[in-house]
Amino acid sequence: MTPTPLRRRKAFEALEHHYLDMSTRHLRELFAEDPDRGARMSVQVEGIYFDYSKNRVNDETMSLLVELAKESGVARRRDAMFAGEHINVSEDRAVLHVALRMPKDSSLIVDGVDVIHEVHSVLDRMSIFVDTVRSGEWRGHTGKAIKNIVNIGIGGSDLGPVMAYEALRYYSRRDLTFRFVSNVDATDLVEALHGLEADETLFIISSKTFGTLETLTNAHSARNWLVAQLGDEAAVARHFAAVSTNAEKVADFGIDTVNMFGFWDWVGGRYSMDSAIGLSTMMAIGPENFSELLGGFHAIDEHFRTAPFEENVPVLMALLAVWNRNFLGCQSVGVMPYDQYLKRLPAYLQQLTMESNGKHVALDGTPLDYQTGPIYWGEPGTNGQHSFYQLLHQGTAIVPVDLIGFAQSLNPLGEHHDILTSNVFAQAQALAFGRTEPEVRAEGTPEHVVAHRVMEGNRPTNVFLAKVLTPRLLGSLIALYEHSVFTQGTIWGVDSFDQWGVELGKVLAVAIIPELESNSDPELTHDSSTNALISHYRSLKRNESPHVER
Ligand code: F6P
Repeated sequence: MTPTPLRRRKAFEALEHHYLDMSTRHLRELFAEDPDRGARMSVQVEGIYFDYSKNRVNDETMSLLVELAKESGVARRRDAMFAGEHINVSEDRAVLHVALRMPKDSSLIVDGVDVIHEVHSVLDRMSIFVDTVRSGEWRGHTGKAIKNIVNIGIGGSDLGPVMAYEALRYYSRRDLTFRFVSNVDATDLVEALHGLEADETLFIISSKTFGTLETLTNAHSARNWLVAQLGDEAAVARHFAAVSTNAEKVADFGIDTVNMFGFWDWVGGRYSMDSAIGLSTMMAIGPENFSELLGGFHAIDEHFRTAPFEENVPVLMALLAVWNRNFLGCQSVGVMPYDQYLKRLPAYLQQLTMESNGKHVALDGTPLDYQTGPIYWGEPGTNGQHSFYQLLHQGTAIVPVDLIGFAQSLNPLGEHHDILTSNVFAQAQALAFGRTEPEVRAEGTPEHVVAHRVMEGNRPTNVFLAKVLTPRLLGSLIALYEHSVFTQGTIWGVDSFDQWGVELGKVLAVAIIPELESNSDPELTHDSSTNALISHYRSLKRNESPHVER
């Protein structure tokens, strides 16, 4: 059933009307009128305290937003996802990352197949392989144990693994070295291989399609490096594993499919970190911790599936995101984890959110007359405070911010952690309440500086507070964002699971590669700017030695 276009949904119209009132309200007023607001506008799930009270909403806003979720068919589409229906309409696929973390004794029949059985047989094979490598039983070509793991992949086949590795480094095997190569810039691979002994190195080639140019280019160069170092083609079998849905291409590349771990077309790249794409994660933290990670995801899946919208954290996150995007007009969202281990979380969330909801047509292909996914970005706190937070506080754009903090540090040291966490609370306070002109004057500020020091405030934040970063907690946190993205996409009526927008650039690059490589001067038939750039590149490449002596 095609939902009514967003702008014509009753709840959306009511929200437009309601916004006329809310647009003039300040968070200072909303808090003053409602002393209980801070505690009331918060929900706890899986040990994550979600405080959304510092958004520019009141109870009426929230109930209209919940109405919007209901009218938009969020429950229906959610249930369709969990049932394995082909909700990815433009690719005619099921969307079943939730099946990746269902317990072994559950069952989900899709197109006549029990996908949970398949998921767990891959997980079991992964565990055996991981234990063999971690115990030193797996021997490389020269008989040495593996000490270095290099994951080669890009997009969802890199961002999840590297984010999870960094996030869970505390739980990882410190005597193993992990490196992640994604960029086709040779520097990425060359620097990653620096200092590694080939006969102690295992490459995991991660690619859903096994057709991604960057990954295959890096994989071929890694293979050449290994064979050159060890002087024997046969070494590849002991030093390469693959994670993919495409066994044929893996075999063509020369990787023994015994060392291939599969997944399925119903797992989108950006939703794949808990599939076999997580092989490097499991290698780092071990099968038990990996299972904890999956447990955290699954607990939030259950919460998303069963909690009433009013207390459903991913639904609330999505509703606030829609409010900020479509009513307040915010074009971007900052994600600031106050935990150094989460330093790659913003990059991970960029793909999750922007590849999912950066869409301009509805499910049926109709162009949209409203805004969809905002730009996500971020840095770990407190670094950003000494750089771009100035704009967050006093710039002309309103940027909602997610602040993520923990009560306990994995590396307690003196006062560090209280200092760190005081900044989570202080930033949320400053962004919400700012500093008024009378307050600035009362501090004895010289008159000519008063305007400069005034901080308008009224800038929305969500605060996520948990006890300590664990594998389970990480799984829960990521699942919250996944289902928030799903809910936003459902309200906007877009296909959050395709990514057609990335294709054109790939096709054009493939046409340009031979023109850059050619030693002759092939005729260029692009637009005049591209022609001139290619000609200039070719002449620079010919006339100057790129190699700089060190
Ligand atoms: O180009 C975008 C994309 O298809 C992403 O969606 C995906 O995560 C990434 O490329 C990598 O794809 P693959 O895992 O097939 O190499």
